[in-house]
Amino acid sequence: MSEQIQPFYTVHSLHCSLVLDCRGTGEGIKHGPAILYWGARLGPETTPEMLALLGTRQEAQACMPEESPIALSPELGAGFQGNAGIQVHRDGGQWASYSQIESVIEDGNDALTIVSICLATQIKITHRLALDQQSDVLTATTELTNIGDSTLWVDQCSAPSIPVPMHYNKILGFAGRWGNEFQRQSVDRFMGTYLRENRSGRTSHDSFPGVILHTEQTNEGAGAAYGLHLGWSGNHQIRVEEQFVGRAYAQMGELFLPGELSLEPNESYCSPTLYGASTQSGLSSLSQCFHRYIRSNIIDSRCTEKPRPVHFNTWEAMYFELSLERLCTLADEAAALGAERFVLDDGWFNNRRSDSAGLGDWFVDETVFPQGLSPLIDHVQAKGMEFGLWVEPEMVNPDSDLYRAHPDWILSAGVGLGAAPLLLARNQLVLDLTRPEVQDYLFNCIHGLLSEYAIGYFKWDMNRALYQPGSAHCEGRAVTHYQTLALYELIARIRSAHPTVEIESCASGGGRADFGILAHTDRIWTSDTNDALDRLRIQNGFSLFFPAELMGAHVGPKDCHITGRNIDMATRAGVAMFGYMGIEANLLTMEESEKTELKAAVALHKQHRELIHSGDLVRLESGDNENSFGVVSADQDEALFSYALLDSHRNSAPGRLCFRGLDPDAQYEINIVWPRQPTSISTSILDVINGAVISGDALANFGVQLPIMLPQSLLIFHLQKR
Ligand code: GLA
Repeated sequence: MSEQIQPFYTVHSLHCSLVLDCRGTGEGIKHGPAILYWGARLGPETTPEMLALLGTRQEAQACMPEESPIALSPELGAGFQGNAGIQVHRDGGQWASYSQIESVIEDGNDALTIVSICLATQIKITHRLALDQQSDVLTATTELTNIGDSTLWVDQCSAPSIPVPMHYNKILGFAGRWGNEFQRQSVDRFMGTYLRENRSGRTSHDSFPGVILHTEQTNEGAGAAYGLHLGWSGNHQIRVEEQFVGRAYAQMGELFLPGELSLEPNESYCSPTLYGASTQSGLSSLSQCFHRYIRSNIIDSRCTEKPRPVHFNTWEAMYFELSLERLCTLADEAAALGAERFVLDDGWFNNRRSDSAGLGDWFVDETVFPQGLSPLIDHVQAKGMEFGLWVEPEMVNPDSDLYRAHPDWILSAGVGLGAAPLLLARNQLVLDLTRPEVQDYLFNCIHGLLSEYAIGYFKWDMNRALYQPGSAHCEGRAVTHYQTLALYELIARIRSAHPTVEIESCASGGGRADFGILAHTDRIWTSDTNDALDRLRIQNGFSLFFPAELMGAHVGPKDCHITGRNIDMATRAGVAMFGYMGIEANLLTMEESEKTELKAAVALHKQHRELIHSGDLVRLESGDNENSFGVVSADQDEALFSYALLDSHRNSAPGRLCFRGLDPDAQYEINIVWPRQPTSISTSILDVINGAVISGDALANFGVQLPIMLPQSLLIFHLQKR
């Protein structure tokens, strides 16, 4: 079979090429398939042989004569000194994998499947790589099959490893916490390993599974970069290693706890999908690739067929103090402001008068809603809004009927003598979704709610990490992997029984945001903080991978409940309108002037919603004190740009703002559309700019002078091609 294998395989998308090196099947040392090149599309005059020649390396002092390659799954048996992509053993033996390519299947011009066999460990490795034509996004997985006749223990099976050009020496990763997710964290690559690990059993607040590798010169608008993301909602590892031999690679995969994964004969495991984008034109263009990919491959048609409705959410308006009467009054107010969906958050089910009880009992609390939810839903619908409901199905409070009936349905730190006691977090435990009876119970509860009530949307929450992910059902073994798959299955089952229901992924804010969960959900609750200034930074990080129409963004109360910061309505609304907009504040106590402002903001969002939810995002370079970006329509006919000043100006007067992404040869009418009546301390650009017609060239290369602004204020510019 191996003689039919060519030394190189090349696939192309619109702007990218990927060349795979399969020479390891020849004489001498064998090795598995490796990426020889991934980047800008190569012309017909370039051959893989040229690249191979250009890449000729030599034996360095105190190194192997022939380096073990950075294969898609670098191998221990081949002497790889970094982190092997596949790490398996059979009771301690047969660990040194050393595979040989068995077959390569080309699927059209853009996809490859490479099957390799390792006789030493008795495994089959199937790598699948594809370039998406529209977005240029690379998708890559590694599948491992036990072809031996005994149990195979799997310590690691990462998605394909990506060689990183040495001059991509900057690592942009993510840090964060509850209420402050998606924080950019930049480090210079160093000799050694940059490693981010997540054991929270959800995507996590602090270690979003994404990393960007770029050059010193790369910025938002120019320069080379790779962006990588692992589409997985459980534990993960992100590794970027610079080896002393003068090479670097990136590797992402699932993180397994001890003994978590084993494969019986003929069983397979497939890594989560690695999504990659490569650019020569800056970080915004990298984001545009991911946004395009999500828009054309992940977002479900239930959400593309209608505009994303403006939400009203009850959480920061009422918390647990629910009453039908107040909810109906809130619904009246919300509808008057332009809300299109009313979401009843936590507190509606049995015994849920605080966060210490009730999770698991997904039945309407008749002490609060004596006639069930119908009177509220009828009222909401009569106001022209859809109804949505909060649930947190994976969790249970010890103080619940469910836990009293089934105390064994939970995950724990194992069984037997000396096992650690159960750890509570937010007073709750985690249900073991790998048990079919738990799945059935949850499905039936949710199916019951959807069958009885007109619920168009669920906010699906997950408010604690999996600190003790052992399943008594599986001899106490760690089951984060299977728990994650079981969650996907449960949601898929609900969606197939109720195809129109939309689901939001929430985990105490943005703790479960990744392309894996997005295959099953339709919106992401970006963060629990509604503080507009913090939100600008959070939304900026989020936008590196996700488009605006997935980004839950609410206008909160004037005094932010989490930070206590007082921010005026124009800024709160101006920040929220660039996402999947919502309102989450007590409208019964909100001042009339604020409501008038908010109503205008909702109307403005609706006017430009299509552009915001489909355009190309262009982030602009801004100082620490500023935030600025734009959304440009695909045909460059229309754009919105936002400029926010977080703190006082550094100079007496600010400089000019240069827009990017416009057609340089076109003429644009420019108007400041938000706030409604922007003012400055003296006559300024604000008095002359509206209605002016200016060339795209001038707007990009000269820019528009900013007025003297107050801290915590923003301006939104609208540009329309004339
Ligand atoms: C989490 C969510 C919030 C809210 C509460 C309710 O913290 O992120 O938005 O729904 O739970 O308990």
